[in-house]
Amino acid sequence: MTPKTDISTAGGAGERPYVWTVGAGDVAALAELQAVCFSHDPAGAWGAAYLGKLLTQRAFEAWLIAPFKASDAPEKPRPVGFLLMQYAGDVGDIASIGILDAWRRRGLGEHLVVVAAAAARSIGADRLLLEVAEDNEAARRFYESLGFDCVRVRRGYYERADGQRINALVLQRPLSFTETS
Ligand SMILES: CC(C)(COP(=O)(O)OP(=O)(O)OC[C@H]1O[C@@H](n2cnc3c(N)ncnc32)[C@H](O)[C@@H]1OP(=O)(O)O)[C@@H](O)C(=O)NCCC(=O)NCCS
Repeated sequence: MTPKTDISTAGGAGERPYVWTVGAGDVAALAELQAVCFSHDPAGAWGAAYLGKLLTQRAFEAWLIAPFKASDAPEKPRPVGFLLMQYAGDVGDIASIGILDAWRRRGLGEHLVVVAAAAARSIGADRLLLEVAEDNEAARRFYESLGFDCVRVRRGYYERADGQRINALVLQRPLSFTETS
């Protein structure tokens, strides 16, 4: 698995978040993070084997984030969040994103979206797209704060463990904006 984009905020400068591209050695950590972040909805956890397979494809890229990395630390820090992106022509599709509960509301999710937006733009995408469950209030507020708009509703798209069907909102954000982060 070859990292396709090397967008790192690395350097250990102060408390800046540290982001790195998922490589073969990071897939287990990615799968674990996804399982914890989606413990409320097990269908959102895809397992290391599947994630590893996805990431062998050029159309997929993922990043991990840690709150910071000490400049003299030889090892990568322990990640607290992730974002998985699928590139599809002129669209960067955020396939999955999660931040561990204890690290939410510190701007780490936004930081990952900014990294993903830059990566998508660098390969010619002009918008970010994603699906979010209609009842996922936190995620909806998150995307709203980042300027995503709902462009479509997929009725009954998700099926919960109890059989309940939930609409998916398809959200979009153009990439013709100036990043501030
Ligand atoms: C959605 C998620 C990734 C957000 O990550 P995060 O790191 O907490 O988000 P940020 O700190 O970057 O939030 C940026 C802004 O989004 C909004 N926001 C984020 N979480 C919010 C919440 N729970 N309620 C209301 N607004 C929220 C706020 O405006 C926030 O800015 P503020 O904290 O200054 O008010 C995180 O809640 C998560 O992992 N959820 C579980 C997995 C999930 O549902 N993923 C999305 C599936 S589509």
